[in-house]
Amino acid sequence: ADDGYDLWLRYTLAPAPQRAALHARATSIVAPGRSPLLASAVGELRRGFAGMTGVAPVMADRPAAGAIVLAVAGSRLLDGQALPLEGLGREGYVIRSATIAGVPVTLIAANGEAGLLYGSFALLRRAQMADWPARLDERSAPKVQLRVLNHWDNLDRTVERGYAGQSIWDWWSLPDWKGPRYTDYARANASLGINGAVLNNVNARPESLTAPFIAKAAALADVMRPWGIKIYLSARFSAPIEIGKLNTADPLDPAVQAWWRAKADEIYKAIPDFGGFLVKANSEGQPGPQDYHRTHADGANVLAQAVRRHGGIVMYRAFVYSEANPDDRAKQAYADFKPLDGRFDDNVIVQVKNGAIDFQPREPFHPLFGAMPRTPLMLEFQITKEYLGQNFSLAYLGPLFEEVLRADTMAHGRGDTVSRVVQGKVDPYRITGIAGVANIGVDRDWSGSTFNQANWYAFGRFAWDPDASSAAIAREWAAMTFTPDPRFVTPAVAMMQRSREAVVDYMTPLGLHHQMATGYHYGPAPWVHALARPEWNPVYYARADASGIGFNRTASGSNAVAQYAPPVAAFYADPKTTPDEELLWFHHLPWDYRMRSGRILWDELALRYQHGVAEVAAMRRQWAALRPYVDEERFAKTAAFLTREQHDAEWWRDASLAYWSSLSRRPLPAGVPAPA
Ligand code: GCU
Repeated sequence: ADDGYDLWLRYTLAPAPQRAALHARATSIVAPGRSPLLASAVGELRRGFAGMTGVAPVMADRPAAGAIVLAVAGSRLLDGQALPLEGLGREGYVIRSATIAGVPVTLIAANGEAGLLYGSFALLRRAQMADWPARLDERSAPKVQLRVLNHWDNLDRTVERGYAGQSIWDWWSLPDWKGPRYTDYARANASLGINGAVLNNVNARPESLTAPFIAKAAALADVMRPWGIKIYLSARFSAPIEIGKLNTADPLDPAVQAWWRAKADEIYKAIPDFGGFLVKANSEGQPGPQDYHRTHADGANVLAQAVRRHGGIVMYRAFVYSEANPDDRAKQAYADFKPLDGRFDDNVIVQVKNGAIDFQPREPFHPLFGAMPRTPLMLEFQITKEYLGQNFSLAYLGPLFEEVLRADTMAHGRGDTVSRVVQGKVDPYRITGIAGVANIGVDRDWSGSTFNQANWYAFGRFAWDPDASSAAIAREWAAMTFTPDPRFVTPAVAMMQRSREAVVDYMTPLGLHHQMATGYHYGPAPWVHALARPEWNPVYYARADASGIGFNRTASGSNAVAQYAPPVAAFYADPKTTPDEELLWFHHLPWDYRMRSGRILWDELALRYQHGVAEVAAMRRQWAALRPYVDEERFAKTAAFLTREQHDAEWWRDASLAYWSSLSRRPLPAGVPAPA
């Protein structure tokens, strides 16, 4: 069925002329053994080629013409091949058209079996994309060690900020029943190189660390292991009190330290390759070390010491904000963590959201990147579109990921991009990682819409290679998910590449942010001002009044700009050098401020909203033209969602402009319709 369940691993029958050629290149498979990882690789190759050619490759002991040969370094099969395996680590691979024992084969070689698994998926990707040159020569290795999905899944199967149905983890039937969906989830991740999954919400329940849930997590670990995926758990900082019956969770208390050690031992007994803990502490009401006047480093280290002898790590989140920071919420993570640089144990990595507020349609990069030379930083993206229209919008996040990764922190000089910081190339990091808040649930299509699947895909591909291109990734995804026919792929990619900017424009143009409805974050609410804490109110972020609009984060305002490296700070301190796209993030400007376009700010703002709406209308037309290439079910759902998105885009434009014009008292420029 074309219900989206197969994601980008559809392996549909290739058109007749290509089918034979493909089969000739996948007649048989030679693999060095039957370990679980190899069984996954071989099973996927067989499944894929069986689907695409109609004939499953046979298993063979020695290479014959048209074989796919899997081999690890040191194998006699590689004698004389002179392969560039050095520097590929355990997970990288080489794919080559080669001649072995006189016959032409396709060689997948690696230093470790994980590399063979990833190489197998890479070969399948080429076959699916109909992009298999006569002489294959590909070499790839992940640039980041930890490529992890964060599931914000609760134990009752609700998903915080999830828009694709219930949690895929059926805690109730685990550990006894390990349904096939778990394996398909693991396959999809492995196809991208994702090698870790945090099973439960960062707003963690203490029960997730009790024996019954450890057993359930262990069952899932058993499913994931053959696909190279480690399991992690979110830990609630006060668990020693809630499930340990201690009267404190003070990280410097020896009883607390002993409790975490014993808990870690218990987990590792059930899950020998357990990855470690993810921790949200002293943020949004969660308990944490500051409850005991200890630092975040003290808090991270108590958990780190518990898992270290097992080889585990702690991912400690820097997403913190509290009432104590009324002048600018954007400054708190840096203020709390920067002074702790170098104070974290060596198996801790601090996980930082891409921006300093909260997964907005656009944010400048987080000032912590480049500012923690002695503390490894892990980048956290949100794949689920909490603030970008949730399941309905067709917003491809590749350009967002790319923009953040390419942002230049100028930490030590030009070119110190967020990507290089995260790779540990700006400052040498012992651990490197990228996390993505998953958009996965039990919906048949996993992600709530077909195009939301592209964001899972893009996250995985960027985690493997943070220097990748969003357009190239979109091409892969579109070709695999629908058809490699360029008459489909070219326009579909063009549509995807503009789709996130459309959301920015119709929701929060020119650097505006956090204008979404309170709590559920869907739809416009720029006028909301009366909530208990100032930073919960959209008016706190837009600061609009009769004189103008925008958040002054320069020295005359909150001075958040000072958290950036001096050249970046200087650039953002001046509205003349601040890009239009980030203008109102950093500056409060009069309504008649003269923009680069020559228009006044008010007119520019109104036109941006209108442009966002027009872009969605254009996407609807583009999609309609693609009908001949898409099956009925996926075509219809996407079309319906685009109709809904256009409605929402108009709602955003009209509601926002109605409110802003009550302050600016200016007429709408030509081309922007008056609110209905
Ligand atoms: C956002 C989101 C919360 C989430 C939090 C976090 O604020 O709205 O639901 O818990 O981020 O990242 O911890």
